[in-house]
Amino acid sequence: MARILVLYYSSYGHIATMADAVAEGITAAGHEAVVRYVPETAPADVAKAAGFQVRDDHGQIEGPDALADFDGIVLGCPTRFGRMASQMAAFWDTCGGLWFRGALIGKVAGVFTSTASQHGGQETTLFSMITNLLHFGCTIVGLDYGFTAQNGVDEVKGGAPYGATTIADNDGSRQPSQTDLDGARYLGRRVAETAAKLAG
Ligand SMILES: Cc1cc2nc3c(=O)[nH]c(=O)nc-3n(C[C@H](O)[C@H](O)[C@H](O)COP(=O)(O)O)c2cc1C
Repeated sequence: MARILVLYYSSYGHIATMADAVAEGITAAGHEAVVRYVPETAPADVAKAAGFQVRDDHGQIEGPDALADFDGIVLGCPTRFGRMASQMAAFWDTCGGLWFRGALIGKVAGVFTSTASQHGGQETTLFSMITNLLHFGCTIVGLDYGFTAQNGVDEVKGGAPYGATTIADNDGSRQPSQTDLDGARYLGRRVAETAAKLAG
């Protein structure tokens, strides 16, 4: 059984909802999922004024060293101007010790994101996280086309071969659709299954 960390940042809950779906995919495939968020770096008054939400049922990551305890990591973060939010980047910037020790080399990883608009930076944000993970030596698993629902233009939908995605709309009113959530579940399952195979 693989032990997978779902590590995310979310200001308005879309990525937190996707994190739950990733975890569902992991556990439904018989593996263990632990969901954690990275620390908020915005000042408390700014976060409050902007209406940032924190999920009480997800704990904050204990610290960089906690990442070494997992067989795989699924990283989720909303876009900020076409790349990962600074909160997520700030967390990884504290992980130099892990990099130095090579503690994440060979661990399996996947990514998911959310944007306001359909073409507001989904793929570049996914790659900003993939770039980071490759520096740590992670083996990347994408949202392969076995997830066939990413094809087609019959509905507004997330999903890219590079990772699972959702679209929040400019006012945040669009919640992850069934297709978006299914993509997140598929990604979670594929990361866990790949991690189990590589460990075996
Ligand atoms: C400072 C800032 C920059 C943003 N930049 C973009 C952007 O480049 N493209 C886009 O589509 N959405 C952008 N957004 C919208 C967020 O990506 C959106 O609120 C997020 O995907 C919702 O996810 P969450 O509910 O998990 O926070 C931006 C939001 C903020 C606050």
